[in-house]
Amino acid sequence: MTLLKAVRGTRDLLPPETELWDRVESTARRVFARYNFGEIRTPIFEDTSLFARSVGEETDIVSKEMYTWEDRERFDVQSLIAAWTNVQIKERGFVIEGAIQQVLRAVEKFGVKLILGRRNPERPEFVAFGAKVTREAIEGLMNAKQAIRTKEILPYSPDADYLRRFGPGLRFVVPAGLPFEDVNRGEVEIEEFPGQFSKSVQSLTLRPENTAGVVRAYIEHKLGETGLLQKLYYIGPQFRRERPQKGRYRQFWQIGAEVIGPPSAGSESPLRDAEVLEMLASLLDELGIAGWTLVLNSVGSSADRPRYIAALREALKDKVSQMCADCQRRAETNPLRVLDCKVPEDQPIIETLPRIADYLDDASKAHFAAVLAALDACGVPYTLNPRLVRGLDYYTRTTFEFTHGGLGAQNALLGGGRYDGLSEMLGGPKAPGIGFAMGLDRLILTLEAAQGEATAALADAYVAPLSEALNAPALELARELRRAGLKIELGDGAFRLKKSFEIGNKLARAIILLGEDEERSGILTVKNFSTGEQTKIARSEVAQALKS
Ligand code: HAM
Repeated sequence: MTLLKAVRGTRDLLPPETELWDRVESTARRVFARYNFGEIRTPIFEDTSLFARSVGEETDIVSKEMYTWEDRERFDVQSLIAAWTNVQIKERGFVIEGAIQQVLRAVEKFGVKLILGRRNPERPEFVAFGAKVTREAIEGLMNAKQAIRTKEILPYSPDADYLRRFGPGLRFVVPAGLPFEDVNRGEVEIEEFPGQFSKSVQSLTLRPENTAGVVRAYIEHKLGETGLLQKLYYIGPQFRRERPQKGRYRQFWQIGAEVIGPPSAGSESPLRDAEVLEMLASLLDELGIAGWTLVLNSVGSSADRPRYIAALREALKDKVSQMCADCQRRAETNPLRVLDCKVPEDQPIIETLPRIADYLDDASKAHFAAVLAALDACGVPYTLNPRLVRGLDYYTRTTFEFTHGGLGAQNALLGGGRYDGLSEMLGGPKAPGIGFAMGLDRLILTLEAAQGEATAALADAYVAPLSEALNAPALELARELRRAGLKIELGDGAFRLKKSFEIGNKLARAIILLGEDEERSGILTVKNFSTGEQTKIARSEVAQALKS
């Protein structure tokens, strides 16, 4: 049997590494609390159009990397049978008794659910619903024909009301009036249920990022009506079907935050941008990430955008034919995304394209200058990169990334920016916002590179009962010590003393021996593994002794 493995691009996080993840997450929560952020948890999947409308149809994320599926109502054979049985009761003689059970049994092993019915007592009909239609399934179906008492089969009519009743699935269409033998020769059509039954079908997508979900929730719960800024953070998995490599996964984790609200709450103020950036600098410092670089740019407002796009189109006109197919298409549909192209041959051309920084209007320039001035005032260092446009469509004005040299090709620890028009793009009220998301996987890689791989913290003590009869008293002792706040590993009286020492030495700083004498006298034998010292300590003082 082939062993199942975690899907490519996903991975298991195991202790002791997860201790580091926990530490990073709790540091982030602590820092967010100091800035008065609250946690938001949005669903892991959303309607596909949420991402198409916010991140943008022409971005790599939406056009290539999303995990999307058609979510149909599940086909439930039990309720189907029950429904048909009800019909039988209502319309006498509808189901051919006996036959249906045999046929069902004959075909169920092929994943086909079969219904045999007769609406009109004179004219039988034959319908099969199946999750999977395979050659074997069809053969199974045909083999089941012995169970069917009739030879003639009706065409499957799309307006038969059982279709409406049972929703989407697969159907076998059997030509009208054909003798069953002919059906056996393979003249069975297999079709999906027609579109009129697709009402319950919804295109869903595993979230590739969390900003869209947060803004959707902001609109849905009318958070703007409070008149206050909403300061929300999230920690959770995101999904993108990218080519896996170091620091790039298909399921990865983000810690992110968004500040969003009506303009009257000050959501557009450059002070918000600077405050978020200052918070990030503090967070990275507190996490112990040394050597980060904050890279900043302004991509202008929605008013600046058309002038820049026009300039890009103009500049691309003569060059785009030498570029990759994606660029050629994007030059038409969304020229800004040409700047995200990673094809090496296209880079020299991209270098020559106009820079968005040269197309900012006075308001955008003033906004950006105020962000920089506030950063200067609080001493957060940054570098400017006029090419930083970020690969998502919703950005306006300030955009940024924090990079780290130790990460190699995937050097962005985090990215973010303003999205002043996003709420309106999703049909919500005017609600400018700014936020970021930090790649937790990359953060952990950076920390591990700096601090070495995580090692498991030792327990304070290993409690070793010296016989099986002492197991229960040992559990009681462990409970006592754990309640006193100690980290305790509990052994087993079935182990020989040598084995208890060996395991204890691997897992804990000390071993507490619980033999009959110790149990009776209440004086425990405690050996400290690092000093080698063995002492007798009264049970009531052991917790204190282990803490010191
Ligand atoms: P993003 O730049 O697409 O922005 O992702 C943010 C961060 O997530 C990246 O800097 C990186 O650290 C991490 N990341 C992205 N893809 C992967 C991957 N495949 N494997 C590992 N880590 C990855 C956003 O997601 C925006 N929602 C950020 C934002 C929030 N903008 C405004 N508010």
